[in-house]
Amino acid sequence: MKNIQVTLAKRPNGKPKASDFKIVKSKMYKPGEREALVKNLFVSLDAGFRNWMDEGSGDNVLPAMPIGQPVMGLILGQIIESNNAEIPKGATVMARLAWEEYSLLTPNDWWVEIEDDGSVPLSYHLGVLGDTGMSAYFGLTDIGKPEPGETVLISAAGGAVGSVAGQIAKLMGARTIGFAGNDEKCKRLVDVLGYDATINYNSESLDREMAAACPAGVDVYFDNVGGPLLETVLDHINEGARIPFCGAVADYGAQSESWGPSNLFQIVTKWATLQGFMTHTKLDRYPEARAQLKEWLASGQLVAHEQMYEGVEQCGVAFADLFAGNNFGKAVVHVQD
Ligand SMILES: NC(=O)c1ccc[n+]([C@@H]2O[C@H](COP(=O)([O-])OP(=O)(O)OC[C@H]3O[C@@H](n4cnc5c(N)ncnc54)[C@H](OP(=O)(O)O)[C@@H]3O)[C@@H](O)[C@H]2O)c1
Repeated sequence: MKNIQVTLAKRPNGKPKASDFKIVKSKMYKPGEREALVKNLFVSLDAGFRNWMDEGSGDNVLPAMPIGQPVMGLILGQIIESNNAEIPKGATVMARLAWEEYSLLTPNDWWVEIEDDGSVPLSYHLGVLGDTGMSAYFGLTDIGKPEPGETVLISAAGGAVGSVAGQIAKLMGARTIGFAGNDEKCKRLVDVLGYDATINYNSESLDREMAAACPAGVDVYFDNVGGPLLETVLDHINEGARIPFCGAVADYGAQSESWGPSNLFQIVTKWATLQGFMTHTKLDRYPEARAQLKEWLASGQLVAHEQMYEGVEQCGVAFADLFAGNNFGKAVVHVQD
């Protein structure tokens, strides 16, 4: 049996391109002592992994991915062989493994078992019920805390985190405004995700559009992108504003120095709070969040949006799409049944 893998052919220069990755056929793994073989069913595409494609990414969360090796990512898979009693054969797992059809799970790898009760599609455990849905939930309920009638502005509003955050903010009674990179996507934010208004962040009159879309100012800015947009938004925040800082896509792989807002003093005069968070540090609270998200899904108050790609070979294309803004909802690759 052969394994199909997608390797890191070269370090991306700025935004990743499909040509930064290479599809290779390799020998099937043979699990050793305390190891297991995973049949990968879905691969999750997460913008944050761009950071570890650079040499010396500057953080101590994960090491840089080696050139020529399968690209690291989150997968959902099934254990088909195991030499480790703690990893039972047949279990469905979410694990930090790689873009490949089969992976070796060693005792050093991060993984959790997924309880698949069949009530939702399995892939939702990578999106709305996975880290991205949890990020939207915790960012809003722990930090943003919108009151009914307040204005919640969300960047990357049609992406995996943003599409869930926009719907949750609406459920909390807020007026929701979404940023997207083109007019067509802005229209979908309203038609499909129920945003009250949108702003194309590539507009030449961004400041004017901000004022028009948020006439009462911004009470909560759920930020997924950082970069120059954060500076623009800071000029429109209200007193007591909250900014859950979820991610900084605009800075991932930036070719020059990362952007720093020149107007941070706004946070002082508006006595605002800007707080970062890492969702995986709240693992003990996932059951609470998952129960609430599942309830909203079941009642139809929350709709999961996925952009599904077919075949592990598509991982590079799907990843590049995230940075070109070509995705709507959670980008997932279906590897095999
Ligand atoms: N803190 C945590 O624990 C945690 C956990 C999961 C994810 N995250 C973060 O959440 C954010 C979203 O991640 P995701 O994986 O769900 O990706 P995503 O939002 O599905 O995709 C990225 C989106 O960013 C937008 N974008 C790309 N480049 C941009 C730029 N230069 N300026 C403005 N927008 C840009 C694109 O849409 P448009 O261009 O159309 O707007 C694209 O759809 C990331 O920052 C990620 O690191 C954080």
